[in-house]
Amino acid sequence: MTLQGEESGVAKSLCLDYLAQNTKLRSKGLKMAKITYIEHGGKEHVVEVANGLTVMEGARDNNIPGIEADCGGACACSTCHVYVDPAWADKLPDIDPMEEDMLDFAYEPKPGQSRLTCQIKVSDELDGLVVRMPERQI
Ligand code: FES
Repeated sequence: MTLQGEESGVAKSLCLDYLAQNTKLRSKGLKMAKITYIEHGGKEHVVEVANGLTVMEGARDNNIPGIEADCGGACACSTCHVYVDPAWADKLPDIDPMEEDMLDFAYEPKPGQSRLTCQIKVSDELDGLVVRMPERQI
């Protein structure tokens, strides 16, 4: 797909906004963690996300498709569902009861791998995290 005219300008503007934001975060000394998001079809997106943001916010801020996050991170929609790479499943904070309840509404949840990205805060310990998107949300 090739963007034309106004769409191209908007895309460039969004890209520049992101780069400026990223540079600002780095200049504030915030640490970044590398997160790999893999679309259901296999396309990988490797991005750096500032510590303190959630894995969902990292996807949203980098325009990564497949994580819809309809409720904005309030743990009320399950449209930020991913499968955490098995190598990482035990390294994440435990699922709290609210997240566990909401995962019941996710599309094809997998015990031990399904998580809501809005409930996972990025930290040094998550540098290198790999998450895979389900075929669809809901
Ligand atoms: Fe709605 Fe995560 S964004 S549950």
